[in-house]
Amino acid sequence: MKIKLNENFKNLSKNYLFTEVAQRVERFRRENPKSKIISLGIGDVSLPLPRSVSMEMARASIELGKKEGFRGYGDTQGNSKLREAICDYYAMRGVLFLPSEIFINDGAKSDLANLGDLLGDNETLIFDPVYPVYLDSSVMSGKRVTRFFESEGFALGSPPKDMRDKALVIYLCSPNNPTGAVLSRAHLQLWVEFARKSGSLIIFDAAYESYISEPDVPHSIFELEGARECAVEVCSFSKMAGFTGVRCGWTAIARENPLYDMWRRRQSTKFNGASYISQRGALAVLTPRGLSDCRKNIDYYMENARSLAKFFEGMGVRFSGGKNAPYLWVRCPDKVSSWQFFEYLLTSAAVVCTPGVGFGTGGEGYVRFSAFASREDTLCAIARLEKALRVR
Ligand code: MLT
Repeated sequence: MKIKLNENFKNLSKNYLFTEVAQRVERFRRENPKSKIISLGIGDVSLPLPRSVSMEMARASIELGKKEGFRGYGDTQGNSKLREAICDYYAMRGVLFLPSEIFINDGAKSDLANLGDLLGDNETLIFDPVYPVYLDSSVMSGKRVTRFFESEGFALGSPPKDMRDKALVIYLCSPNNPTGAVLSRAHLQLWVEFARKSGSLIIFDAAYESYISEPDVPHSIFELEGARECAVEVCSFSKMAGFTGVRCGWTAIARENPLYDMWRRRQSTKFNGASYISQRGALAVLTPRGLSDCRKNIDYYMENARSLAKFFEGMGVRFSGGKNAPYLWVRCPDKVSSWQFFEYLLTSAAVVCTPGVGFGTGGEGYVRFSAFASREDTLCAIARLEKALRVR
C-alpha cells in the first residue's frame, strides 16, 4: 500500500491493556484446561440487568417489529425523554442542566476519545497511572502528553505548581480508575479554579460516580462552582446499571462552553445516536424503580469490595480504593513487578487481576482487583489469594 498512514500509531504500546491481559489468560486456560479461572481483572459486571430494565428493552424491541411502533433514525443527540431524565438525575445533586446540553452516547469510552477531535495542539495532562483510553487516544491523534505522577501511585493530586499559567487539556477521573481514589470537593475545586485561571479544559470521567458512599465526594464536576465553562463530563450506564454489553452513556457540555457547538457539529456528522433499545433501557434505569434496582446491584459489588479490602488489610498489604469505587489498587510484594505478580497469581491461584503498569509506568509495582465478580467467585478468589500470598 502506498497511502500515508497515521504515524502516531507507532507510538502506541503493542496491545491495548485488556487485550494483552485476555491473551495471557487465554494462554493459561489452554495450558490448564481443568483450572477454574476467576477474573477480578477487567471491570466487567456479572449481575444480570434489573428486570425492570430488561423488560423495558424487550418492549422497545417488540414495538420496533410493529408497523405503528417502528422507528428509524433517532435524534442524533439522543432520546429527548432520556436527556430530560438525565437532567433530573443531575438535579437530585443540585446540578442544573438543560436537555439540550446532554448528548447520549454508546458508553463513555467513545466520547472520552472522540472529544479529542475538537482539540488542537495543546499540552494534555494525564495522571499516571491512568485509564489507558485517555493516553492512547491522545497518542493516536498526535497530542503532546505530559504525565503527572503521584507519590506512591495512590492519591489524586493537586494542580502542579509549575504549570499554573499553561492552558492544558486535563483528564480527571473520580472515583478513579484504576486507583479507586476520589477527589474531595475541596480538591476538585482546586482543579476547577486552576482550569479557569489558566484557560484549561477538564475532561471529567464520572463513570463510577454511583459507587461513591462518602458525603464529601462530588459525583459530578458540575457540583463545583465555575465548572460549566471549563469542564466537560462523560458518564456511563455501564457500571451504574450493568450496561457494559448494552452500551449507553452521556456527555454533558454547558452551552457557554466553547466546545458545545463544535461537539454538536461533530456528532451530527460522525454519530447517528445510540441504539433506540439501549436508550429505552437507560430511561428505565432512571425511574425510581430502576434506580433502586441498580442500587441493589451496586451494593452487592461494594460488599465484594469490602471483603477484598478486609482481606488485604488482614494480610497487611497496602492498597487504596474499595470504599467509593469498585476497584482496589494493591501494592505488589517488594521487588515484584506488576506483570510478575499478575503471572504469579494467575499460575498459583488462577485469579486474574490487572497489572498496574498497564495503566502507565506510575502503576509499576501495583495490581488492580475489581469487585465485579459474583459473591461466590470473590470469596473463592480471596481464599485462593490467601493461600498464594502465605506461600510466597
Ligand atoms: C476497566 O476495567 O478499566 C474498564 O472496565 C474498562 C472500560 O470501562 O473500558
